[in-house]
Amino acid sequence: MKILCVVGARPNFMKIAPLCEEMKKYKEIKPVLVHTGQHYDFALSQVFFQDLKIPKPDYNLNIGSGTHGEQVGRGIIEVEKIIIKEKPELVLVVGDANACLVGALSAAKLHIPVAHVEAGLRSFDMRMPEEINRLLTDHISGLLFVTEPSAIKNLLKEGISKNKIFYVGNVMIDTLKSSKFKVQSSKICEKLGLKPKEYAVLTLHRPENVDDKKNLREIISTLNELQKKIKIIYPCHPRTKKQMERFALLAQIKKMKNLILTQPIGYLEMLNLIENARFILTDSGGIQEESTFLKIPCLTLRENTERPITCEIGTNIVCGTKKQRIIKEADRILAGKAKTGRIPKYWDGKTSRRIIKILRNYGRKK
Ligand code: UD1
Repeated sequence: MKILCVVGARPNFMKIAPLCEEMKKYKEIKPVLVHTGQHYDFALSQVFFQDLKIPKPDYNLNIGSGTHGEQVGRGIIEVEKIIIKEKPELVLVVGDANACLVGALSAAKLHIPVAHVEAGLRSFDMRMPEEINRLLTDHISGLLFVTEPSAIKNLLKEGISKNKIFYVGNVMIDTLKSSKFKVQSSKICEKLGLKPKEYAVLTLHRPENVDDKKNLREIISTLNELQKKIKIIYPCHPRTKKQMERFALLAQIKKMKNLILTQPIGYLEMLNLIENARFILTDSGGIQEESTFLKIPCLTLRENTERPITCEIGTNIVCGTKKQRIIKEADRILAGKAKTGRIPKYWDGKTSRRIIKILRNYGRKK
């Protein structure tokens, strides 16, 4: 059974890693890995292949960043050629970045079945490029692997047959659990002079936050207040850095005495930072889940989340981007009244095992 896996951006890599590892165990499975090259910086791409021992991609399309039309259009043109040449039985895509849609659409048009890992999540906010990718991918996939019950509800409501839906848990947690020792050995806190629980970690890259000058200015003003209360460590995404330069806001950030601005950092170091943080400030999807698993309080700087379980039973609070609310929630954590949480069902490190078992059965029936 040849399975073509398509990845391209940072959040894809920690999701494909445990699936590649699991596929290796079975002789009848032949994975073919395609990297669209949406993320190309060492810190956004190669470091993950290195840290997580992901096999070298069989194809690297070097498409790079660009408009969505360029990324998706060029992606489909190239992936279609690979599918025609490789003739896979199945195309596997993970998450919601552009590579996910590229893989799914190229396959579906050639009548190759698609498996989507992390299906059914919905923010109900069509301004998010990821929401468009999620919706389209799910509706052309034949096997939908979900991380939480809300995803099942969403898919059924959209008319997707329940026979296609498999509640298997979260592959990202497989990676987190299997990397535990290496994460704990990271020396990033020493390197940055940080003491456990005496700092907060910030990530920020969503277009709705960083492409909007007013929003970004409000967030930066909030950070200025917050860093007077707790040290903030901020690995800055290239998109955000570019926007801060464009809006002449970078100097303000750099002036903050208690905020450490760094380049993007690798998986193991980032997880170590998260695990030792007092709390997290983020607009990332994956970090909401990782902090829930690690039981670290998380303030999500967005108006919604497609991962409601992180709020319902995890440590996450969606608190928007307005200063007053963020400061209020941070103060509560600093006063020792942080939200506590539980780990969601099937976030147990065995999700990729469940997925590959289902794919093997599917391959036998075909
Ligand atoms: C993408 C994903 C998003 C994910 C995020 C994580 C989509 C629609 N978005 O957004 O879901 O949360 O990755 O990082 O797929 N750039 C570099 N080096 C790189 C890659 C990008 O400098 O290696 C810069 C480029 O200037 C580019 C900008 O970052 O224009 C944005 O990159 P892009 O890949 O379009 O989207 P992300 O914001 O990274």
